[in-house]
Amino acid sequence: MHDAGQGELSAAAIHTFRRKLIHWYRTNARDLPWRGICDAYRTWVSEVMLQQTRVAAMLEHYERFLRMFPTVFALALAPEAEVLACWSGLGYYRRARMLHKAAQFLVTERAGVIPDTSIGLRTLPGIGEYTSAAIASIAFGESIAVVDGNVERVLLRITGRAEDTSVAGQKLIRDLAASLIPHKRVGDETNAAGDHNQAMMELGATVCTPKAPLCLTCPVHDLCLTRGEHVKLPRGTQKSHPAAYLLATRKRGITTDVLLERRSADARLMPGMVELPPLPMSAVAGREPLLRLRHAITNTNYYVEIHAQSGSGERVLRRAVKVPADSLIWQPVPQLHALPLTGLARKVLMRLDLMAVAGPENPRRATGFVIP
Ligand code: ADE
Repeated sequence: MHDAGQGELSAAAIHTFRRKLIHWYRTNARDLPWRGICDAYRTWVSEVMLQQTRVAAMLEHYERFLRMFPTVFALALAPEAEVLACWSGLGYYRRARMLHKAAQFLVTERAGVIPDTSIGLRTLPGIGEYTSAAIASIAFGESIAVVDGNVERVLLRITGRAEDTSVAGQKLIRDLAASLIPHKRVGDETNAAGDHNQAMMELGATVCTPKAPLCLTCPVHDLCLTRGEHVKLPRGTQKSHPAAYLLATRKRGITTDVLLERRSADARLMPGMVELPPLPMSAVAGREPLLRLRHAITNTNYYVEIHAQSGSGERVLRRAVKVPADSLIWQPVPQLHALPLTGLARKVLMRLDLMAVAGPENPRRATGFVIP
């Protein structure tokens, strides 16, 4: 699904991602007052309020603001003090001043008409790259990606990338977001781009949350390389180590076996424990993993890649495993829980849906991940 090396999504993955995301959004999104409307002024007010404020904290203000100033004309004609009073409690009052100034400009210079493109919107006070893209896509259907903190986190997790605040890192995220945006189709009555952007923000706000993401309910779980891991840059005092493991499976009747390695009884670390067969990094150079995750042990972050042996005929990766043949075992999926698995192996097998996630609060059973 992921193009080798780039962490970008293939055309097929993009199509599936959009489809699953929008289906989830249409059936699960919160019913918020700025959704399903056709009023650019209301969209604009909502996006300005949401710039530094969470939905729950601004809902009441939003309703009250629109009762006080239901149109761009009403806002432009109001004294600034009245606008600020209505904004009181939301913070970042510069947002209210800019919104007011922009409304006055539109009413005096543009007959009260709100620009219908992201470029036009950016000429207004208080509207930058993010807000212009949000209004243009949601209110006018422009195919332009919105990238806020929530969207960035979703994309980093999907592609297994570490946070990167450099110019190049940010460009990569913007490019990735842009590649996912649906294009306008002739005859399509829905607002594909606007809904997609709102769906991405909604996913980040309600499912792909910074802490404890709800991966079990995520509509794009199958396309995600990390399944909830948010790869942060290693801290100064921490060491980091790359590591790679093989995921080889075989079908036997109705069950699937997984290839595992039992560590030797006199190994210095974790003797007798069972893990996925390790691969040398040189064997996986340039290959796109099935899964990426970070595994922290004391002050070392292991940046782990899991590589699937793809295609029944391909033995390249299997041959790269350099452990004694008699330490390798094929274990049926239903009996994985009976082995003394290392913490990392358990985490990987759970992420890949080969083992049930433990805990009484989560009765979901393993379904058996489909190896591509
Ligand atoms: N954050 C900013 N704009 C949003 C929107 N339209 N939906 C959900 N979250 C948002």
